[in-house]
Formats: sequence, structure tokens, C-alpha cells
Amino acid sequence: PILAGVVGWPVTYSLSPVIHSTWAHRAGINGYYVPVAVPPSEDEFRQIINGLRRVRFAGVNVTKPHKENALRLADEASEIAKKAGAANMLTFQKDHIYADNSDVVGFANAVKEQSTNPGIHGLVLGAGGAARGIILALQSLGLKKITITNRTREKAEALADEFSLDVVDWDRRSNNLDTADILVNTTSLGMTGQPSLEIDLNTLKPKSIVADIVYSPLETPLLKAASSQHTIDGLSMLMHQAVPGFKQWFGGTGIVDAALKQTLLTEI
Ligand code: ATR
Repeated sequence: PILAGVVGWPVTYSLSPVIHSTWAHRAGINGYYVPVAVPPSEDEFRQIINGLRRVRFAGVNVTKPHKENALRLADEASEIAKKAGAANMLTFQKDHIYADNSDVVGFANAVKEQSTNPGIHGLVLGAGGAARGIILALQSLGLKKITITNRTREKAEALADEFSLDVVDWDRRSNNLDTADILVNTTSLGMTGQPSLEIDLNTLKPKSIVADIVYSPLETPLLKAASSQHTIDGLSMLMHQAVPGFKQWFGGTGIVDAALKQTLLTEI
């Protein structure tokens, strides 16, 4: 059988094994996709990756907190992984580990599912690791203007310099919505156990897209408030980011559809 998996900490609640197993089952592919828990130590990460190579894994997805470690470990990386500064895919070739980042294309495809014309202005909330991939996805979709806002303004400014963005003050995040075609929350606000994201969507255009990258809860307070808009939830992004790995390691075509989402919903 073909072996692949997901490496992270914690990894128990990862839905990636369900996605890949569902696709493998549908396609009649003889393969296993397993969760591998690796504590947040770069050393342990390296040891486990080398172990997985030795037992002939085809590759792994990498999730928190190892995405930066994955990029450093790889012998070669795609341009998009380098720009993101993080890799969520490692493919084990003969004497070689190749890093890629499918979070970027995953989010871009989740947007395309909602709209063939995502518009010109994106507003990104947050400036952590996840924001980088979202910014690259918005740029790949051809958005001409991207505004970033973050509680810690310096982090927004650093990303603005790197990716040519505009910065607005966190306290003024509700003031820039009238021109936004897409609003993405990459902060942890709104996640189960976290404070809610306070934002006033009154001025947001009805056709704009509102996205949240977390899936616990699936309908975050932001998505609930945006119910009259087009919304993208964290499961949509998760399913789309899995497609390149399934192709790369199992040689199959992963279809993102309502049936897969329904299966995942029973696991949340
Ligand atoms: P990830 O890899 O998921 O992006 P991260 O790098 O820890 O995680 O980033 C978390 C993001 O959530 C940051 O933008 C953070 O803002 P700061 O840079 O100011 O820390 C944001 N965040 C977390 N808690 C927040 C809160 N209570 N209010 C506002 N922003 C918050």
C-alpha cells in the first residue's frame, strides 16, 4: 500500500486522514494516511520525518507547529513555499525531500468556488503565519489592493513591506469594509474558547466574500454575521488544500464536494 500522513502537534483532531481515506476509498486506491504526533521540537521533527522516509512513506502534510521546520528541512522547495516561509507538504523522493505549500492554492480554489471574479480589494485580519498564505492566495487571484490590519501593528507593517500591502489600524478595522470584495479572518478570534471577533459588517457589500480559516466552530461569529454574503469556512479551505497531496502521493484526483463535507461534519 501507499503510505502518507499528517505530522503535527496536536494532531489527534486533524481531519486530513478522513479526507484522504475518503478519496482513496472512492478511487479504490490501496493506501493509508495516518496522523503522526510530533512534539514542538525541530529535532524531533527531523528524526520522525527521517523515520517516515525509511519506512517508505510517499510524503506527509505538515501542520502546526512544524510548517516552518518543514521548509527548513527540505532539500528543495517550491517558489510559493519559499514566499510563504512555510510548507504544509513534504514529498519524499529518492535522495531528496521536496517542500510545497498547498494552503495557498487551497484558499485560492475555495475563493474560486464562490466566485469567478473575486474583485480587486482584499482585507486581511491578522498578521501571523496563516496570514502569509492568505495574502499570497489573494495576490494569485489578481486582487490589486490588499489591506492588512493586526492588533500588533508592527507585524502588519512588516508583512506590508514584504508583500506591498496597505496597513490600517486594528481599531479601524470596521472602517474599510465598504470597498472590500473579500474579507478574511486569519486571527484566532472566534475560535472555540477564544474571544469573539468584534467587527461591524454593516458597510460590507452584499456580494463580498467573507472567509474564516478555522473550522471549530464551523460557523464562527464572523460567518454568522456575514450570512447575507458569500462565505468560505475553514472546512472548505481544508478540503481544497488536501487535493495536491492526494494527487502527489496517491496519484488520485481528490474531489471537493458536499458528500465529503458531510462526512467531515460528522467528525467535528
Ligand atoms: P497563525 O499561524 O494561525 O497565524 P499566529 O502566528 O499565532 O497563528 O497568529 C495569531 C494571529 O491572531 C495574530 O495576528 C494575532 O495578533 P497579534 O499579532 O497582535 O498577536 C491574532 N490574535 C490572537 N489573539 C488576539 C486577540 N485577542 N485580539 C486580536 N488579535 C489576536
